[in-house]
Parts: sequence; C-alpha cells; structure tokens
Amino acid sequence: MWRSLRLASTLGLCASAFGQSSTVDSYISTESPIAKAGVLANIGSSGVESSGAYPGVVIASPSTTDPDYLYTWVRDSSLVFKMLIDQYTSGQDTTLRGHINDFIVAEANMQQVPNPSGTVSTGGLGEPKFNINETAFTGAWGRPQRDGPALRSTAMITYATWLIANKNETYVTDSLWPIIKLDLDYIMNNWNETTFDLWEEVDSSSFFTSAVQHRALRQGSALATAIGQSSVVSGYNTQANKILCFLQSFWNPSPGFMTANTGGGRSGRDANTVLTSIHVFDVEAGCDGVTFQPCSDVALSNLKVYVDSFREIYDINAGIRADQAVATGRYPEDVYQGGNPWYLASFAVAEQLYDALIVWSKEGLLTVTDVSFPFFQQFDASIKPGTYSSSTPTYSTLTTAIKNFADGFVATAAKYTPSGGGLAEQYTRSDGTPNSAFDLTWSYASALTAFNARAGETSASWGAAGLSVSPACSTSKASTVPVIFNVNVTTVVGQNIYLTGSVGALTDWSTTNAILMSSADYPTWSTAVTLPANTQIQYKYIIVNNGNITWESDPNNEFTTSMSGITTLNDVWR
Ligand code: NOJ
Ligand code: NOJ
Repeated sequence: MWRSLRLASTLGLCASAFGQSSTVDSYISTESPIAKAGVLANIGSSGVESSGAYPGVVIASPSTTDPDYLYTWVRDSSLVFKMLIDQYTSGQDTTLRGHINDFIVAEANMQQVPNPSGTVSTGGLGEPKFNINETAFTGAWGRPQRDGPALRSTAMITYATWLIANKNETYVTDSLWPIIKLDLDYIMNNWNETTFDLWEEVDSSSFFTSAVQHRALRQGSALATAIGQSSVVSGYNTQANKILCFLQSFWNPSPGFMTANTGGGRSGRDANTVLTSIHVFDVEAGCDGVTFQPCSDVALSNLKVYVDSFREIYDINAGIRADQAVATGRYPEDVYQGGNPWYLASFAVAEQLYDALIVWSKEGLLTVTDVSFPFFQQFDASIKPGTYSSSTPTYSTLTTAIKNFADGFVATAAKYTPSGGGLAEQYTRSDGTPNSAFDLTWSYASALTAFNARAGETSASWGAAGLSVSPACSTSKASTVPVIFNVNVTTVVGQNIYLTGSVGALTDWSTTNAILMSSADYPTWSTAVTLPANTQIQYKYIIVNNGNITWESDPNNEFTTSMSGITTLNDVWR
C-alpha cells in the first residue's frame, strides 16, 4: 500500500513537471505576440495606447488614475528599448529601426530639458520622469534617480556597437556619441552621490543603480576606444573600478544575499538584486561573482533568500512546497498599491535561472560552492560542494530541477495573467487579480526577455569577462563554515519548517525572516547555512502555517561551529 502510494505520487510529480513545461510553452506562444504588441502600443506617437506621446517616448502605462502612469520614465523607457534594440540587432525583428531612431531623438531632447533635478550640466540627467510631450514634470518626486543615464547609455551603446559593425561609424561618432557621453560623464562624476532606488523610495546607495552604472562605464570606455575618443577612457575605467569594488560591500554573508540599499531600514531582500543579475548578464563572463552573473554562487544564494522572503507573506503562496516557485514582489515590506506580487519580478527570477542554465550548458559543467550550497540543496538534498560535469547524473538532476523551478515562475505569472493576456504592474497577494497600472510597458518587456532567455538567446556581451577587483579594494570576508541542519518532523499540508537562532545568519531569532527549510527528503527538513566559524550558536526550529508560529520546546539547541569544513546536525523536533 505504502509502496503504491509512493509510486503514484512520484508519477504525479513527473506528470506535473511535464504538464508545467507544456503549459509554459503554450503560454509563451500566446503571450509573446501580446507582449510585443503591448510594448509597441505604448510608444509614441503611433502606439495605439500612447495617448499623444511624442515620437519615441515610452509611456509607463496608459493608466491615468490610481496610479497615474501616463508619463515617461527614463528607467522604464531604457529597459524597454534595450530589449527592442537587442531584438533589432540580433535580427529577431528587423522592423524596429524607426522606433529606435525616434527613441534616440526623444531622449536627446529630454536630456536638454531643465527640470527639478537641474539642467543638463547641473544634475538634470538624474531626473526620473518627464511629461509625454518631453516637458519637465515639476511635481514632488523621489529624485534624482541615477540609474536612468546608465540604462539609457547601455541601450544606446548596444545600438552604436552594432552600427559600427555594420559600417555606420560616422553616425555613431557624430550623432550618438555626444548623447551617450553626457550620460557617461554624469555617471563618472556622480555615481558616488546618494540616489533614490529604482522603486523611487529609498534615498541612499543602491545595488542595482551602482551595478548598471558600472556596466555603462565599461561599455562606454570600449565604445570610446573603438571610435577614437580615447581621452575619456581612463576616467571611465578609474571610476568603473571603484564602483566594482563598492558593489562587493553590499554582500551580506549570512544568510547570503545582496542587501539592496545602504539605507531604508528594511530586511534588504529585494527584486532590485535579481534585476541586477539579469541586466548585467554577459554570457562570456561565466559564473563570475564579482560582476554578479546569474549563475554565480552569490547571485544564486541571493535568489533563494529573495524568493523565500515571499513564501509566508502572500496568501496565494500558501501550501506551496518549499522547493517550488512562488509569487514574488519588489520586497517583502512593500505596501505600494497593496504591496503585491509584480509580474516583472516573477519574470526576472525565471530569467536569472534561464541565464544560468545557458552558461552551465555552454561550459559543460556547474559548480556548487559553500555559498551556493543552500540554493542547490533545494533540488538535491544530498548535494555536496564540487564541480559536476554535464556528463554526470548530478548535473542532469540539478539542471532539470532548476529548469522546472524557473518554469514555475513563468507558470505563476501565467496563472495570474487574465485571458486577454494583458500584463498589469501587479497581481494581488490575496487571489492574484491583476492590480495597479494596467498594460505596464515594463511588464511586457520583462516577459519578452525572460522568454528569449528560456529559448537560449543571449544579448551582446559587454565586457564583464575577466574583471576583478584590485588588491587595494578590501572585500575580505570573515571566516565562515557551512552547516547543514536536518530535523525530523511530521507536518501536515500548509505547514513549513523554519530555522531561527542567535546570530545574524540565523536571523537573530526572527520569526518573520527565519530560514525556510527544504522538504525534499521529508520527513527530514533540511537547510544549509553559512555560519561564523568557531562561534557558540543557539537555535530552534519553528513550524509556520499561514503566519501562525509553533516553537520547539525549551531549552534552545546549542552548539559551537567548527573552524573549517562542513558540519551536519541531525535533530528530531521536540
Ligand atoms: C510612486 C512610485 O512610483 C512607487 O514606486 C512608490 O512605491 C510610490 N510612489 C510610493 O512612494
Ligand atoms: C513604479 C516603480 O517602482 C518604478 O520602478 C517605475 O519606474 C514606475 N512605477 C513606472 O513604471
């Protein structure tokens, strides 16, 4: 009886994995043209929903009330046009050149518009949004936002590089370079100043902003070299080196994630960081952690910590197994428009994982380190740090499970996409109804880039390969050791086991940020945590069910971590 039940549930799992993959296939085939049309509809002046926007101006959404998004944001527009420029330069869509030229003219005009952040030479390039007729928006806002010039120059440099390869260097030098240079000089001179983050709320330093600035300066210095503008090169490179060093300081080794902002007073878990990994992806850079590549150990650990922070807070995630995809949002503490999951966040998680799969397949191997161990352990409870070549069963097990996990995030977005295929900004945490701005241009663009990554497509590389921080950049990490916590506990559907304890890596006895354990080896729940070496630690397991918490009985469990090597703790719930 037990055996046949077990067999039935195993078959059920396989069937559901196949079912999911074909559900995702069919969602992609219907959603792709809708998303593409959704993007083009929001670009002036010909876009059917663009409501009088000037040519090349991207509206964030046609929504005019609650929220009013009938404006153009430099960030949204640049991310959208980076996607379109990639489609054009790769030959995926050869009809986009007119739109690209319009975008360049529109952005060049807005660069020159005096606005509340300043003029073109006094900080105005940090202005986050404009009216759709290219005039300044003068209302109160979180400004400046310094990711805009970086994302815009990256989009334009990508186009410029293609033009040079296609024998149009004169246009690049005469027309594009002066526009690009304004943004790059702004980054070079101001990257070290505070900025509002990409969510327009926290005024501090921000991982996403610094990372895209770093990328823009690297690409800018390569472009400058290619067109003989060598006078800027050393300035751009010097600042890029400093930004790359600064980026390392966002790493929080326990429990292994990039803190999104230096300010803000939040947990620091934020889609900011997952978006960073996909927007700095360079297929030539392997799994480099210094530039936060999608398959790097730091970015994978970060992905898990980010995703897990949403498991208990959204009703629609209730009852979903700890190793499966869930709905995710900007950050767990978010309250904007209800503080819901965002489509672009779901797509970003999927895209990071698809990018990772592309690189592992290209390199014919994947590596599990102490840092990425908790991520991989979700998919193979007995995994050990090491390198697995593509001919090993472990590689197949892991990559199959990770592809499936990635598809789960697309399937989540698909599940909450209404029948017409429209993508709003959010879907509610209570029942997944589309919410906030409808037809969000960025949502559509994020779907398209995730779909392309799933199909194995990559964008032009930007020079991330081989970068490293200088010896003078102190990024020394304190000594840590991996510890595997196993606890045997019988649970019922809806219950998850979390670990919490006396040090930062164990969330300082938090119940809301406690560490979710994997049930892959049920009734053993496990997780791997990187703890400070040679330190006395106290901990307990908790059962969480829909926000209700049951603690293990007293006293606290206690042990001292080793100086080195992996420790496994085998506990029984009490
Ligand atoms: C509008 C911004 O666009 C959004 O990101 C923010 O959450 C809200 N204002 C609240 O500050
Ligand atoms: C609010 C988001 O937080 C911000 O990132 C975006 O630029 C605007 N909405 C417009 O879509």
